Amino acid sequence: MKDTKHTLNHITNNHWRTQFHIQPPTGLLNDPNGLIYHDGVYHVFYQWHPDGPTHGLKSWNHVTSTDLVHWTQDKRILQPDSIYDSHGAYSGSALIVDDTLELFYTGNTRTLDDVRIPYQLNARLDSNGIVDKKVVIDHIPKGYTDHFRDPKVFTTPQGYAMILGAQRQDMTGTALLYTSTDLKTWHFAKELTTWLQSFGYMWECPDYFELDQKGILLFCPQGAMNVPQLNTNIYPNAYIVGEYDTTHFDMSHHTNPQLLDYGFDFYAAQTFIDQTGQRVLLAWMGAAEGGYPSDKYGWAHVLTLPRVLTLIDNHLYQQPHPNLIALRTDSVPIDSPLCSYELTVDSIQGDLDIDLYHFRDECINLRYDASTQTLTLDRSALKNTYATERGETRTLRLDEPLKNLHVFRDTSTLEIFINQGRYTLSLRFFPQHIEGHVKIKTLNDSALKTLYPLEDVNHDL
Ligand code: FRU
Repeated sequence: MKDTKHTLNHITNNHWRTQFHIQPPTGLLNDPNGLIYHDGVYHVFYQWHPDGPTHGLKSWNHVTSTDLVHWTQDKRILQPDSIYDSHGAYSGSALIVDDTLELFYTGNTRTLDDVRIPYQLNARLDSNGIVDKKVVIDHIPKGYTDHFRDPKVFTTPQGYAMILGAQRQDMTGTALLYTSTDLKTWHFAKELTTWLQSFGYMWECPDYFELDQKGILLFCPQGAMNVPQLNTNIYPNAYIVGEYDTTHFDMSHHTNPQLLDYGFDFYAAQTFIDQTGQRVLLAWMGAAEGGYPSDKYGWAHVLTLPRVLTLIDNHLYQQPHPNLIALRTDSVPIDSPLCSYELTVDSIQGDLDIDLYHFRDECINLRYDASTQTLTLDRSALKNTYATERGETRTLRLDEPLKNLHVFRDTSTLEIFINQGRYTLSLRFFPQHIEGHVKIKTLNDSALKTLYPLEDVNHDL
């Protein structure tokens, strides 16, 4: 058998390739799919168009890891090779049933007249590949349009449930629930009950799970929460927390929708349970429409780092997965030039002004105004721009003073965890010179700061 790298014809020739993020060997990556831990192995699939940095015919590329840090390309890729997924194997999820790994996803098809017909499919991963592909839902329920996709399957006291993103015929977004006792026959149950009746025009990529006896819905309500004049992303990724009734799929008492992340590049988050029982999130570090600077090298996008979720006072906290400590090498002086790093800043008091990347006249700046508790992320000093029509800054009003920062930089990514993960900001950036340094301009003397260079472990990605 040919070497995977050779078969996949890796892109190796540019400095924006990341050192420890899941990235496509070529072409475009988008949503994380089928995330699961089984038999000592983490499986991550993702939406993939191998042939170029555009949203073309999607398959599910597949990478595995035993520690969520070191990833290996797997040959078992879900291909759009049937009449039920002829125009793309779209997003979905995984479930372990009787020691087998079951995949659920949307088969995107188009008629000769270009009418979209979505099917919901089930397939199984075995040692040779993806087998037993079959349609489990072959029609759109009455009252909804052809925007009906992205099944997330989970267990309930009664059996199994599947939550799907959907659009009502009145062009508002919602999530639909199906139930099954055998994973083969699925019955349409109802819409998820929430008080969000007219909230965007389509909900993509729903995920439902429970933490601390609360129900949590992650979803991407397209057309909601994006106010162009306020410098927001075109498509939001939000969550609500509520009292959940698994028999009636009733989440009517829930919080206001909140953004999961306040940076420039974050969408389609999905979660899974890790080896130690923690709920872990991965998202697509992308979303903006149009080209990214790496397009000219034939590839686009990465996934976020794995983040552990916890719930405190109905607020989701995201923390870098503890396994990422394996990437650290000995700490170095704070202004050392690096291509990737982990930075911690604790005991912050008052204003802050810091370049998380700085080289000559290019920088990524983060500043905090203590008088208004406002944090501003500013990428305007970079030469390689994209999605500029939505603004070059993101501003976030904290509901408590800034206390600490935890930052991961990997060549062309930054993930910023604020106040123990109460808020996060994620972004790609494409500097001309990859090595840069952290430049602290304003910070209280009593703050504690540590900078760790990180290892390059992406030998197989
Ligand atoms: C979200 C999405 C999903 C769809 C997939 C196709 O980014 O549009 O709704 O299944 O991407 O790649």
